[in-house]
Amino acid sequence: AAKKIKIRDAAENRAPTRVKVSGWIHRLRDQSKMIFITLRDGTGLLQCILTDNLTKTYDAMTLTNETSITLFGEIKPVPEGAQAPGGHELHVDYYEVIGKAPGGAEAITNIVARDADNQTKYDNRHLTLRGDIASATLKVRAAVAKAFRQSYEDLGLLEVTPPCMVQTQVEGGSTLFEFNYYGEKAYLTQSSQLYLETCLPSLGDVFCIQESFRAEKSLTRRHLSEYTHIEAELAFITFDDLLSHLEEMLCRTIDYVWNDPVTKQHIIDLNKEATNEAKRRGDPTVFEFKPPQRPFLRMSYADAIKWLNEHNILNEEGKPHAFGDDIAEAAERRMTDIINKPIFLTKFPVEIKAFYMKKDLEDPRVTESVDCLMPGVGEIVGGSMRMDDLNELLAAYQREGIAPEPYYWFTDQRKYGTTPHGGYGIGLERFLAWMCGRYTVRECSLYPRWMGRCTP
Ligand code: 4AD
Ligand code: MG
Repeated sequence: AAKKIKIRDAAENRAPTRVKVSGWIHRLRDQSKMIFITLRDGTGLLQCILTDNLTKTYDAMTLTNETSITLFGEIKPVPEGAQAPGGHELHVDYYEVIGKAPGGAEAITNIVARDADNQTKYDNRHLTLRGDIASATLKVRAAVAKAFRQSYEDLGLLEVTPPCMVQTQVEGGSTLFEFNYYGEKAYLTQSSQLYLETCLPSLGDVFCIQESFRAEKSLTRRHLSEYTHIEAELAFITFDDLLSHLEEMLCRTIDYVWNDPVTKQHIIDLNKEATNEAKRRGDPTVFEFKPPQRPFLRMSYADAIKWLNEHNILNEEGKPHAFGDDIAEAAERRMTDIINKPIFLTKFPVEIKAFYMKKDLEDPRVTESVDCLMPGVGEIVGGSMRMDDLNELLAAYQREGIAPEPYYWFTDQRKYGTTPHGGYGIGLERFLAWMCGRYTVRECSLYPRWMGRCTP
């Protein structure tokens, strides 16, 4: 009898000779007397060969891409000199069509052609998901999330699941999504940071991989309305400890991902495709992912301002940068692309950073804060040491015009055994855009949301 397998089993030499395999027709090649089906089942691709009588039925003659089908036959290694994905092929002796897919104008490749506009592409995200690029990106995404979890376990952090429905802001009122919570005002969380801070005395160092929400009113390559936020919080650390931990986490995670041959191949393929795609846009950039060298370059905000001015990169008003200016996305991206390696940008001025950040003891104009910048994307991580003094925090609420009442539970951390502590948040989609050479974070989300898009 035939044993039911997944395509991955054949690629990994775990399949018996006689098998039953089900999937969707990814590609179809009809030659005289033979039909070649590239079958896709989500775990890989398998070349299936129909010969003789099998090619002469009505079903065989009307096969279309994306038809679902079950095939029976013998798995054999691909003959010397020939090529097929996974190195195996299926010599089919029987098959059943399960669900036909339309050809012609209704075929997926015609509904969303390669050069379709973005509206069409994202309206049909449920169909484009079946393509090589989307599926490779989402497989790398799963591998990256798994690797982050593994690294956190190695370093002894515990995973928690903070709430998404909250009544406090973290990163400024202008990007809050508000909703009606049984008649009370509530928000979708912008960051789980404040909740992670409350876990320290109970659970020790913690992390979460949770959705964050930002009502971003601009359309950029790196902003989503909903994104996956990898956040961690550590107690009894210094700012230097925070930077070392972050570098260790990023490098360890990248090593796990890069040492997995299947994932590595996806990353290489995606970067090659990015290079070709850039060429079509007339952009000569060559995309190639390489695990970064340690230690990461550390640059203070003040030095970055100098660097930008030395390189004639202007601020948003078209003037030279002054201390206190926000470094806008375009300037940040140019700087990172020129330096072309990861940068820890540290010690941002108090005025341009969030209310909870601890001030630098040596220079009270700046905070113990860090952004990690990566070529092609810019900021992928934001973190800081937190104000651990009760009175300083109360003053910060007042300075920022934040009503302290809803934060009573956060404030209490400073009352019941405060400690120096800090943490950070990594945007998973930005991390992936960097690693996979994607043009926008939208490609790194299963069903991306941004201003104007909440479907499918
Ligand atoms: O720099 P942010 O706003 O920092 C925080 O939220 C901190 N409370 C995190 C912490 O310390 N626990 O966001 C952190 C990261 C950014 O560096 C970026 O990678 C990502 O989250 N991010 C977004 N990604 C996609 N779309 C958006 N609209 C994003 N906003 C932030
Ligand atoms: Mg930030």
